[in-house]
Amino acid sequence: EQIEKGGYDHFMMKEIYEQPSVIKDTYRGRLLANIGIVQMSGVEDNLEKFLNAKRILVVACGTSWHAGLVAEYIIEEFSRIPVEVEYASEFRYRNPIINKDDVVIAISQSGETADTLAAIKLAKENGAFVFGVCNVVGSSISRETHAGAYTHAGPEIGVASTKAFTTQITILTLLALRLAKAKGTLSNSDYQRYLLELELIPEKVEEALLTNDIAKKIAEIYKDASNCLYLGRGYNFPVALEGALKLKEISYIHAEGYPAAEMKHGPIALIDESMPVIVIAPNKGHYDKVVSNIQEIKSRSGKIIAVVTKGDTQVKALADHVIEIPETNEPFTPLLTTIPLQLLSYHIAVLRGCNVDQPRNLAKSVTVE
Ligand code: G6P
Repeated sequence: EQIEKGGYDHFMMKEIYEQPSVIKDTYRGRLLANIGIVQMSGVEDNLEKFLNAKRILVVACGTSWHAGLVAEYIIEEFSRIPVEVEYASEFRYRNPIINKDDVVIAISQSGETADTLAAIKLAKENGAFVFGVCNVVGSSISRETHAGAYTHAGPEIGVASTKAFTTQITILTLLALRLAKAKGTLSNSDYQRYLLELELIPEKVEEALLTNDIAKKIAEIYKDASNCLYLGRGYNFPVALEGALKLKEISYIHAEGYPAAEMKHGPIALIDESMPVIVIAPNKGHYDKVVSNIQEIKSRSGKIIAVVTKGDTQVKALADHVIEIPETNEPFTPLLTTIPLQLLSYHIAVLRGCNVDQPRNLAKSVTVE
């Protein structure tokens, strides 16, 4: 097992560090940025289905559901197709409206999650076209779907999903770009700019991994916290949810992810000097509004750990700790902002003596309801 961990103490850490290479493996042969092409055989063969879709429904569970939320922002922005994201467990039992011209995307690392599988069957019975995004080749979901694209993350052993999440986002970004090209919903220059930037993401993830030391130092300070709040907006709202999920899964600290602007509708009541608040604040999108949230947290003595873009000055002046990630286009920020949050959870869990790779009560693949 020590050999399989490749020199790391835990599978989770190994898998976090594999992200630059597996993101590259996931877009290899599919992203041909220099000639302006994005291609995935499962999409090419069914392009009409996607182009005729009145909407896309995403079904998934856990971390894969968070990847679906990021995809909602990216697909709607790039290709202007309405997207709805559902917990597979809710979808399967609520008599949902499914139309023949809906495309259903099922996201699953293992390809075995019982609720997701049931949601797929229901969608198929109602005539929808179902596209799978799975990591495990030959898994039940990959067989049950009409078509799909594999993430090339390689085996993920740590129960808390890391590299599966970023490779799922990679596939869904490729899909959004492919559809944008076919529909003409992005200008040529934006399309080309996104392709070139996506190609650079593995290097930037590599750079984001350099935040490991600072994440460890911050972990030492906050390892005994009983609660943590994660805030983000836009593309980084799902990252806040995923950051909170990672922390609770492996460190057993209660954590909540929230859209930053919703803080005033509840979570703000919890903020005092014993509440660490992790704010995802890249210099894009709603930066100024997130800065105001940070001011509100500060005035209530909350401890602020901010994930910012390299060179940031405004948040740095307010936050207790900042973690810097490289600059990128707004839609791609989740692929970078999520890295220090994975590292932070990892170090907190290790310092608390938790079983990082196999947290209590959790299973890697949930094949029962
Ligand atoms: C379990 C795992 C999670 C995972 C979820 C969905 O809860 O512990 O890491 O996100 O199932 O799994 P899937 O294999 O469908 O992505």
